[in-house]
Amino acid sequence: MLRSLLGAIVASAVFALLAPAAVAQMSPKFRFLQFCVGCHQYDGTGLPPDVPSLRDDLSYLIGSPEGRDFMLRVPGVIGAPGSADEVAELLNWIVKSFYQGNADFTPFTAADVLSGRERPMHDPIQERLELLAGN
Ligand code: HEC
Repeated sequence: MLRSLLGAIVASAVFALLAPAAVAQMSPKFRFLQFCVGCHQYDGTGLPPDVPSLRDDLSYLIGSPEGRDFMLRVPGVIGAPGSADEVAELLNWIVKSFYQGNADFTPFTAADVLSGRERPMHDPIQERLELLAGN
């Protein structure tokens, strides 16, 4: 009895130690499938016009400081679970996987993600319209 109880305690302690590691080991693709695919779809085409495509439309965004800043401050990115490093890795994976234009872009860093998290948008739809109108 005592032995099985101790076994259960050890097993749950081992699980508690391993579980965060398992989360940390999620690949960017796994994160995308878990947290983003419901809206942005498997191939990043989204559900236009409500959910923008992560393919062509990125050309307006990754080429300018304002556009990159916008990408860091949309609700999906601000609320993405994971460390700033992991979310930066996710964003870079998205650009590499879906963006159809010139893929020569400056990768997002953890510092970029942290800076976005400090400044969530009040009205992302309006800000997006204004941003794209300027292009
Ligand atoms: C509930 C639906 C939803 C989910 C889930 C979601 N997004 Fe979005 N995403 C949107 C919408 C809608 C926009 C357009 C801007 C806005 O209105 O927020 C957007 C815009 C974006 C943009 C900017 C692209 C553009 O053209 O505006 C990026 C980058 C992005 N999302 C990344 C992500 C990532 C990464 C995740 C998962 C961690 C995610 N999103 C999860 C709905 C979603």
